[in-house]
Amino acid sequence: MAKIVVTSRQGDVRELEAPVDGRSLMEIIRDNDLEIEAICGGCCSCATCHVFVDREWQDKLPARTEEEYELVSSTEHFDEESSRLSCQIPFTEELSGIKVIVAPEE
Ligand code: FES
Repeated sequence: MAKIVVTSRQGDVRELEAPVDGRSLMEIIRDNDLEIEAICGGCCSCATCHVFVDREWQDKLPARTEEEYELVSSTEHFDEESSRLSCQIPFTEELSGIKVIVAPEE
């Protein structure tokens, strides 16, 4: 099991334990009933899985694709350094302990 530390929109911090089973960060957060809409189901077309990833974890993430950047940078609360679409981040052992904040609703 690996861990994701998620701060909800209300500011509650939850530690999620999850197996590394091919799911994305978005899928794990959604499956734990945190308020992430993920309307498109992970196809990189809605931006409702927007999260802010803690600075210390940036280097471990896969780089944003052009498609992800275009979409996430068009959101109201975009932050150049920390904004990511959580459906575009596969959860791996290396990311165990990652800290993310669910972005405000658009
Ligand atoms: S779930 Fe739609 S862009 Fe991530």
